[in-house]
Amino acid sequence: MEEKDGMRQQEDVWILAVETSCDETAAAVVKNGRQVLSNVIYSQIDLHTLYGGVVPEIASRKHIEKINPVIEKALADAGVGLEQITAVAVTCGPGLVGALLVGVSAAKAIAFAAGKPLVGVHHIEGHICANYIENKELEPPFLCLVVSGGHSHLVMVRDYGTYEILGRTRDDAAGEAFDKVARAIGLGYPGGPKIDKVSCEGNPDAIAFPRAKVADNSYDFSFSGLKSAVLNYLNACRMKGTPVERADVAASFQKAVVDVLVEHSKRALEDLGVKKFAVAGGVASNSHLRAALQAMCDETGVLFYHPSPVFCTDNAAMIGSAGYYEYCRGVRHGWDLNAVPGLKLGERI
Ligand code: KG4
Ligand code: ZN
Repeated sequence: MEEKDGMRQQEDVWILAVETSCDETAAAVVKNGRQVLSNVIYSQIDLHTLYGGVVPEIASRKHIEKINPVIEKALADAGVGLEQITAVAVTCGPGLVGALLVGVSAAKAIAFAAGKPLVGVHHIEGHICANYIENKELEPPFLCLVVSGGHSHLVMVRDYGTYEILGRTRDDAAGEAFDKVARAIGLGYPGGPKIDKVSCEGNPDAIAFPRAKVADNSYDFSFSGLKSAVLNYLNACRMKGTPVERADVAASFQKAVVDVLVEHSKRALEDLGVKKFAVAGGVASNSHLRAALQAMCDETGVLFYHPSPVFCTDNAAMIGSAGYYEYCRGVRHGWDLNAVPGLKLGERI
């Protein structure tokens, strides 16, 4: 700490962040939670595309191969040495256990060898904090819709590190539904970006797919019924010999997902009287969802925040941001930090 102009100035905090929870091997250096000095992502997507989805064992092996070069590049791109780093942050859950373990082991080894504190970070907290990177003025409290390949959560961010989950998916996550429907209509993996693109040529009102209601006034989501409705529609077309208009199916399915996400978010904003709303996770880069959420916020006088697509899908910069706020709250983990595949948001380990 140093004193300046009679005010106590905090020293800068440099976080080296590591993320390996699924199929991206990523490392970043983030200063004071919001300034990204480097953001290196090695995507394994091409490898998993061959199998139509993420193969956990292949993901773990690739992480082992890539983790050291990715971390070295993150430090080099940022132009810092390990001695300048304040703490090492790493995603410790949720995710694929073998994949998580690679990042957790690497982060522990580096932190131990360099004599730096270790901070375990929740992957979803990382997605939420991605919003701080480009929106310097954003501060809690705000409502956040987290929609990724593994999660669909409506979260009230009460304060840094204080989350209240208002709703979650009862079955498939939004991204999972995108991926499964994309596979069924022959678009391949990962389906989200492909459906996003193809939908632009389709009619979103061509097919009336169901908008699932879990229960009155619940903020929970359910996407497996919608996925089944799409599969049934495709089967019926096949049996009747009618051609499938892929773009129409994609656009109609996407509209059904977007409608539900917008409706739940709008209701929660109204019920809680919150005027700041953010979206996060891989599906948050969907252009139709962003446009619909923006329109809803404009109509209701709510400020809308979203990360750029590179900070929506898995990356380590978001872990560096979350790691900073956890570090500032005094969170430190021991050398016994483990990967926790089913870690709940807000759960202390
Ligand atoms: O956040 P993320 O990278 O990984 C998880 O934490 O799950 O999200 C990946 C998911 C995949 O299901 C992918 O299909 C989806 O995000 N996704 C999209 C788009 N880009 C990625 N879904 C819809 N539209 C997109 N443009
Ligand atoms: Zn993610």
